Amino acid sequence: MRKQIAAANWKMNLSLEKAATLMTDLLASPIELSPNQEAVFGVPFPYLTSINQQIAGKKQFSLAAQNCSNKSSGAYTGEVSVEMLKSIHVPYVIIGHSERREYFNESNAVLAEKVNICFEAGLKPIFCCGEALQIREAGTQNSYVENQLKESLFHLTAGQLKGFVIAYEPIWAIGTGKTATSEQAQEMHAHIRNVLSAKYGSEVANSISILYGGSVKAANAKEIFGQPDVDGGLVGGASLIAAEFSAIINSLK
Ligand code: PGA
Repeated sequence: MRKQIAAANWKMNLSLEKAATLMTDLLASPIELSPNQEAVFGVPFPYLTSINQQIAGKKQFSLAAQNCSNKSSGAYTGEVSVEMLKSIHVPYVIIGHSERREYFNESNAVLAEKVNICFEAGLKPIFCCGEALQIREAGTQNSYVENQLKESLFHLTAGQLKGFVIAYEPIWAIGTGKTATSEQAQEMHAHIRNVLSAKYGSEVANSISILYGGSVKAANAKEIFGQPDVDGGLVGGASLIAAEFSAIINSLK
C-alpha cells in the first residue's frame, strides 16, 4: 500500500516562537495516523532543528526542508546543501515548488539536479509540478505536467522512483482559495500515474504517492483525499492553523 501523506508547507511564515507554539498546539491535538500514513512539516531552514526536537519520538511525524541547493558544497553564499540537511536529520526536501520555479527561475533541468543530489545524500524529494492558469485555460495542462515530469524525473531508475513522492499543485489554486474540484484533481493524478506507468510500469507507478496541493483546508480535505489517485496533500495556508492542519491529517484515507 502506498504511503498517504499530509505535508505542511509553512513557506516564509512565523517567528521561532510562533512556530514552536503552532507545533505544541498540533501535538496536543487528537491526531490518528495508521501505519501507512505520515504527517510531514516543511518548515523554514532556521527552525528545522528545533521543530525536529519537538517531534522527536513521534514516529509518523517527519520534517521537510522547503528547498536545497543543486550544488554539493563550496562558495555558494546563502545556499543550503543536502549534506547539511542530512546532518541535522531532515528526511524530506520539497523540490520545485511553483514559487521557486516562478520567483527563483528554477528550471526543469535545475530541478533534475536537485532531485539527483537528494538521492545521492539519501534524502527523499517531494517533487512539485503543476500548471498556471493560462495553461489550464488553453486545455494543455496534461502535456505541460507530463513535460515537467519527463525533464526532471525520467532520467531516474525504476528503483529510485519506487515510493517516490510527487505533489501536483495547480498554480491557479495555490493561496487563492480556489481549489481544483476533486474530479480535476483525480483526473490529473490519474494522468500523472499513467505517464509514470508507461515509462516505469504499473508496480512503480502504483507505489508513488501523489499529493494534491492548492487551497486544501479542513472543509475540503476529505473529499479530495478520498479520490483513488490522491494520496494526501501539500498544504500551505491551512497548515499554519493547528486545528485546521490536524483535521487535514485526520482526513487521510
Ligand atoms: P495553499 O498552498 O495551501 O496556501 O494554497 C499550497 C502550497 O503552495 O504548497
